[in-house]
Amino acid sequence: RKILFVTSELTDLVKTGGLADVSAALPRALGARHDVRVLIPGYSQVVNSGHAIRMVGSLNSYAEIPGCRIGRMDMPDGLIIYVLICPELYEREGSPYGDGQGNDWPDNPVRFARLGLAAAEIAAGTACIRWAPELVHAHDWPAGLTPAYMRWRGLNTPSVFTIHNLAYQGNIDMAQRRPLGIPVEACDPERMEFYGRLSLLKAGIAYANRVTTVSATYAEEITTPEFGCGMEGFLSMKARQGLLSGLLNGIDESWEPQSDPYLVSGFSARNWSGKEANADYVRETFGLERCQAPLFAVVSRLVHQKGVDLTLDVAHAIVEGGGQLAILGQGDHHIEDQVRQLAAQYPGRVAAHIGFNETDARRLFAGSDFLLMPSRYEPCGLSQMYAQRYASLPVARRTGGLADSIEDGITGFLFNEPDVASYRQAVQRALAIHQHPQLLSAMRCRAMAGGFFWRHAIEPYDTLYRQLLGERREVRL
Ligand code: ADP
Ligand code: GLC
Repeated sequence: RKILFVTSELTDLVKTGGLADVSAALPRALGARHDVRVLIPGYSQVVNSGHAIRMVGSLNSYAEIPGCRIGRMDMPDGLIIYVLICPELYEREGSPYGDGQGNDWPDNPVRFARLGLAAAEIAAGTACIRWAPELVHAHDWPAGLTPAYMRWRGLNTPSVFTIHNLAYQGNIDMAQRRPLGIPVEACDPERMEFYGRLSLLKAGIAYANRVTTVSATYAEEITTPEFGCGMEGFLSMKARQGLLSGLLNGIDESWEPQSDPYLVSGFSARNWSGKEANADYVRETFGLERCQAPLFAVVSRLVHQKGVDLTLDVAHAIVEGGGQLAILGQGDHHIEDQVRQLAAQYPGRVAAHIGFNETDARRLFAGSDFLLMPSRYEPCGLSQMYAQRYASLPVARRTGGLADSIEDGITGFLFNEPDVASYRQAVQRALAIHQHPQLLSAMRCRAMAGGFFWRHAIEPYDTLYRQLLGERREVRL
């Protein structure tokens, strides 16, 4: 079956978080069964990635959305990526969404309308690329208009929309309706109207044939006011209609502690010395004292969602308990500053690198004893899966995908309330386990054996696609 993925990030080319990992890994894992191709905007990082791009199609302008060309990039492992070539929209310094200084690009509505419309045109066969999908799978608000434009064009190609994070909604002013060619009937609370504005995320939810999110617990949580970000009513309706489900993410085969080339040294449950070599690297590069202390890690976007502020409080208990803390991440500038201040307060015991790179991220998962994830909400979370695979036990809030992928007291430590007291207790349990090498080793072994691989996690997607493709056949008959 031919399937088009529509996404704004892909780890091979441009990444701000887990969406990029899923967009890179899921199509590849499905590749054994389906012809899955990916559509992504041609940001500078994409067109300058060093991979050859061959022009294969073109799209006309529509309303105030400019025309563009479509390039094709063949990755070395065979993954086919269609790249939207539109320099005035995409080729600039910064992240996919903004200038990297905390300001979103003011023309994001047209940038991502272009993405959604291009997907619809490819599905309609009007992009002249000699390939048309039988099913389209769009991800998060940047691709939210995909199912909408497909519907407005009268296509009956089925679509799936996946919510990776409900808090990022892509809400735009009503005045954008005409420039983006959005029909007036879409401005309805049953469709994409949201508190007097238009929501790209809601468009995806409203117009897709099926909506998924990335864990079963998050699928339930988002139907409640606490987690629903104002869309709980709409999502509850979708859930009642049987159109919303939670499919847990997976991890790709590169997460292999014995052979991961990013690591200083490989390791296995039979020989932890390689794990210690990674810990030595972390202590040295982060400037932590060389010792055998329990090593806690944070590898995270530094944003409110991730509860980094709670970690700043709990850090005192970690240091008092004899532990060390290494933090890698970037995000909100004020959280970055607070992290730097904490590190300055405890030289040798707490250290931070503001920034992100895959090598250090992997070495931190491998070298640490515990990974801190006190997220206020967590649709799925991949870092806790990576950490478990590398025998670093997550200390995490019992929410979303964290609740679904960590077994308390067996593969990690869960706490219930998003507050310091509850979190501190979990950290103290982790510190206590560290005193008992046999228990620690047993937990590590269970964590490493978790088996979160995409080769298993694709099954529910495969089933969903087959249902939708089957349904369509019945309709046609
Ligand atoms: P989220 O997508 O909410 O950030 P996940 O746990 O699903 O959380 O995915 C995190 C992924 O992003 C991991 O691969 C992690 O290594 C990576 N990552 C963490 N922090 C950053 C960052 N500041 N910039 C880019 N990637 C990051
Ligand atoms: C989002 C979520 C994260 C999830 C990722 C991939 O960024 O915050 O929990 O793992 O998407 O689905």
